[in-house]
Formats: sequence, structure tokens, C-alpha cells
Amino acid sequence: MKLHTLAVLWSVCWCMFAVQRVESKELLPAPTLSFNPRVNQSAILLYSDISLQCTIPNNVRMPVEIHLTHAENANYSSSIQSRTTWSLRVVDFEFQMKPDNETAFICWYRHIRSEGWSNFSASLNVIIAGLSDPLMFLIPPAFPVGVKYIAQCETPTKGYENTTLKLYDRLLPIRPGKEAFEYIGLRVLLPGDWGASVYRTNAGETYEFICEMEVFVNGRALRSRSKILTAMPEELPVRLIPQNSDSGSCYGYAFLRVRDDWRPLCFSSTLQNTAEVAKVICRELGCGSVLDHKMLSTKSPDTIGTPNCTGNEKKIAECPLVSYDCNQGTLSVICSASLSPPKLSLSERGADSLAYIRTEESVTFRCIFESPVDHSAYIVFTHNGVESYTISARSGYAERWSLSETVPEGEYACFVRMQGSTVYRTERSNVISIYIYDPPPAGAVAGGVITTFFGVLILILLCVYGRSS
Ligand SMILES: *[C@@H]1O[C@H](CO)[C@@H](O)[C@H](O)[C@H]1NC(C)=O
Ligand SMILES: *[C@@H]1O[C@H](CO)[C@@H](O)[C@H](O)[C@H]1NC(C)=O
Ligand SMILES: *[C@@H]1O[C@H](CO)[C@@H](O)[C@H](O)[C@H]1NC(C)=O
Ligand SMILES: *[C@@H]1O[C@H](CO)[C@@H](O)[C@H](O)[C@H]1NC(C)=O
Ligand SMILES: *[C@@H]1O[C@H](CO)[C@@H](O)[C@H](O)[C@H]1NC(C)=O
Ligand SMILES: *[C@@H]1O[C@H](CO)[C@@H](O)[C@H](O)[C@H]1NC(C)=O
Repeated sequence: MKLHTLAVLWSVCWCMFAVQRVESKELLPAPTLSFNPRVNQSAILLYSDISLQCTIPNNVRMPVEIHLTHAENANYSSSIQSRTTWSLRVVDFEFQMKPDNETAFICWYRHIRSEGWSNFSASLNVIIAGLSDPLMFLIPPAFPVGVKYIAQCETPTKGYENTTLKLYDRLLPIRPGKEAFEYIGLRVLLPGDWGASVYRTNAGETYEFICEMEVFVNGRALRSRSKILTAMPEELPVRLIPQNSDSGSCYGYAFLRVRDDWRPLCFSSTLQNTAEVAKVICRELGCGSVLDHKMLSTKSPDTIGTPNCTGNEKKIAECPLVSYDCNQGTLSVICSASLSPPKLSLSERGADSLAYIRTEESVTFRCIFESPVDHSAYIVFTHNGVESYTISARSGYAERWSLSETVPEGEYACFVRMQGSTVYRTERSNVISIYIYDPPPAGAVAGGVITTFFGVLILILLCVYGRSS
């Protein structure tokens, strides 16, 4: 019985195999090769990413294995890329347009179950039409009068071969007869090179730079040119702008004026100099010392760079701007001028600098600060200069510290510390000195008065008696 079933199965299998063998003798219908619709086939740039689509005819059974290859050696053992598809009839082949890839392509497929092969698609010519533009940068990205800078031209990506970069400049403002850019020099890039630079010292005048790139690709020269880069010495003033405001202040987010724009600074987690930068910002603005500074985690798109300050500079413009490797947002800085010292008082007694209290008396200190900065802070109460009680606080709300008997004598004050900072704090408030003074009890006072009265009386009597005798 079992043997019989096996025999039937075997013959069915053999039949299917035979049918498939017959089927595979003739070629399956050819696929179609085309550009992905998002590729403009007449504007393909060297080293850009392109995508070709191979489309399998509708009547072909799945799954199939699709191959892309060069038309010049079209055979079923050459394949540059391949994909297997169980249902999709359109398959994309993506690659970077290197010089070697400028050729004609075909695609074909293999029916995986039957081992049947398709005819080749018609061939598709892929031609490099041009180059991406070279890029020009200033290092540092903005600078004051008198420093040195570099105008740098770079290929759009690394890996360009047979490439020459030519640099030109022209002085601004443009004078009659001097409209054209003047040739400065060229650099033939060696393998591994990707740029050419012009060094300028003692920046004084404004120049425009432009860079031309020429690449030999498959026997012909392609050219492109950069946008114009303007190198202008500037004042580069800094300012702090509070959130939801557009005017400068002694606290807020740090911006630098470059040309006519206020551009945010940015910071790098490797160049750890935010404390120094904050110090120079408060100094440049005449806003006193730093009370707090914080690096924002998100970088905005139009950042200018990181000032590489040592902390001794008078102005941010004196700190060379570093523009690479900056992945954090600008600084939020609070300078001391935006946060005056808090005020200390005693409940029901006011802010007198001296207070006498009794041994069993308890007191409540009130400390309050007023600031436009909406920033979480702590009020710290001190006794003889020692931090004794800390409480989180907000501008305009008095915080209390109650002491019950026996209140230690000494000098009491308070100050404000920024939340999350152990370093930065305001000056201390006014000082209130507490002394313990216990008035003598009423009985003792009366006794004292009586004793004194009798003493005086005896003295008088003695005197009178002494004279009369
Ligand atoms: C394709 O590129 C050519 C040459 O740059 C251009 O003239 C044409 O408008 C582009 N076509 C589309 C659809 O973008
Ligand atoms: C198929 O193409 C490859 C190159 O991709 C070549 O090496 C091979 O000889 C070719 N085979 C035949 C049979 O033409
Ligand atoms: C493109 O050219 C590179 C060599 O420069 C080659 O390795 C790659 O297979 C080619 N890709 C295509 C799709 O031709
Ligand atoms: C394969 O396609 C070519 C045209 O691309 C055609 O001339 C040829 O007859 C086809 N061969 C078969 C076996 O279908
Ligand atoms: C660079 O030029 C040389 C000779 O001119 C040529 O042999 C080589 O293939 C070229 N390289 C590229 C990537 O075009
Ligand atoms: C920052 O300046 C110091 C000198 O003050 C220098 O040693 C360092 O390399 C500079 N850092 C960067 C990233 O330019």
C-alpha cells in the first residue's frame, strides 16, 4: 500500500519535471529596463546615486531572480547585481554613477522553480551628463579684521579622480575694468585629495572667491563651478536673546551677527569650552559674571560655529570660530546683571539688620528674588556663611525658613543658586543678625526696684543722720 503511494508520487513528480524541462527550452518573455522615474536621464551627474528599474511581464510566474549586467558582455553567467522577487514585478537597481558605470545595461531573469531563463531586455544607455558643483568654505566661517583665514574649495564628495580645482578671486567693491575674477592658482588632485585652499593673512578687505572643477571622465572633460563665496572682515558682535523676545538682554540664547543675520552658535561635545564662551559673552555684553549656562541639545540649521575661547578674551570676535564637528545647539547664558541678589526679611519684623529674640521664641525668615529669567532656581539660606537650608524657588515668590527655639545666634542671609549648578550663584542678600536677649522676669524687676528704693532711703537717712550729728 505504502509502496504504491510512493510510486504514484514519484510518477507525478517525474511528469512535472518533464513538463518543466520542456518549458525551459524556450526563453521566457524579455523584461524591460528603464530609468527610475525620479532619475532625469539627460542630467545624470558623476558620483550621483541613480536607479534603474527592471520590469517583469505580467504573465510570468513568480518567484524569479532578476539580474542587471552590462550589455557588452550579455550572457547568463554575468551579473552585476541581482534580486529575488516573490511578487513585485518592478525591481530597482541602485548604484553610484562612477566613471566605470557609464555604459549600456540590460536585465534578465531566471524562473527559480523551472530554471527557465528569459530573453535579455533591450539595452539602456547610461551617460554622465555633468558634475555636481564644487563647494567653497571659509575657515573660520566668519572673522574680524586683522586675522588670517582660508578660502577652501572641495569636491562635492570624496573619491574624485582625474580632477583639477582652479581658484579665482576679485576685490569688492567692484571697480570699473576689474569686474572679472582673477585666476589665483590650480591644484591637480592626487588620490586621497579632495580640496584646494587659498591662505590670506591680515584680513582687511572683502574678497569674493570662486572655484572651478574639471574632471576627465572616459576621455572627455566635464566642468562645474562653485557659488561665489564672500570673505568679509566683520565686527561679529554677540547678543543674548531671551525666548519669545527679539531684543538683547543679559540672559538668553547666544547669537552672533554675521553679515545682517543673527546666527546661533553651536557646540561640540568634544570641544568642551562652553564655560569659557559664556564668560566671554557676559564680559562682552557688560553683564557681569556668569550665573549659569547650558548647551541646548538640538542644533539649529543656520548655526555659525563654536568660538574657541580660552576665557580671557574681551569679545567673542577674538575667539576663532570652529565650524566642524558641531552637533549641539547654542548656549543659554544667564549673566549676573540679570539676577540681582535676593532680599531677606523676618516675618513680622521686617528687614532690620539686627533682631533680638527670646530663648523660647521661633522665627521665620523670608527670602525673595525678582528676575525676568524664568529659570528654575534654589534659594539657599545661610547661617554665619554656612549653607543651612535649600529650597527650590521661583522669581517673585517668597520662600520661608522657620527656626524654633532655641534659634542660634549669628548672621543670617540668603542667595540664589541656579538649578543643576553647584558653581553659579548670586551675591548674597542683606544680612540679619540675631541675638538672644531674655528680659528679666517681672518679680525680679519689682524686687530690684524695692531693694534699690530701700538702699537709697538708707543712704539718705545715713547722710541726714551724719550731718545732724
Ligand atoms: C532633465 O535635465 C535637463 C538637462 O539639465 C533639463 O533641461 C530638463 O528640464 C530636465 N527634466 C526634468 C523633467 O527635470
Ligand atoms: C559571460 O560574461 C563574462 C563577463 O562578465 C565572461 O567572463 C564570460 O566569458 C562570458 N561567457 C560567455 C559564455 O560568453
Ligand atoms: C560601477 O562601477 C564599479 C567600479 O567602479 C563597480 O564595482 C560596480 O559594480 C559598478 N556598478 C554597476 C551597476 O555597474
Ligand atoms: C530575444 O529578443 C530579441 C530582441 O530583443 C529578439 O530578436 C529575439 O528573437 C528574442 N529571442 C527569443 C528566443 O525570443
Ligand atoms: C584618469 O585618467 C587616466 C589617464 O588619463 C585614465 O587611465 C583613468 O581611467 C582615468 N580615471 C578615471 C576614473 O576616469
Ligand atoms: C582651540 O584653540 C586652542 C588654542 O587656544 C588650540 O590648541 C585648539 O587646537 C583649538 N581647537 C580647535 C578645535 O580648533
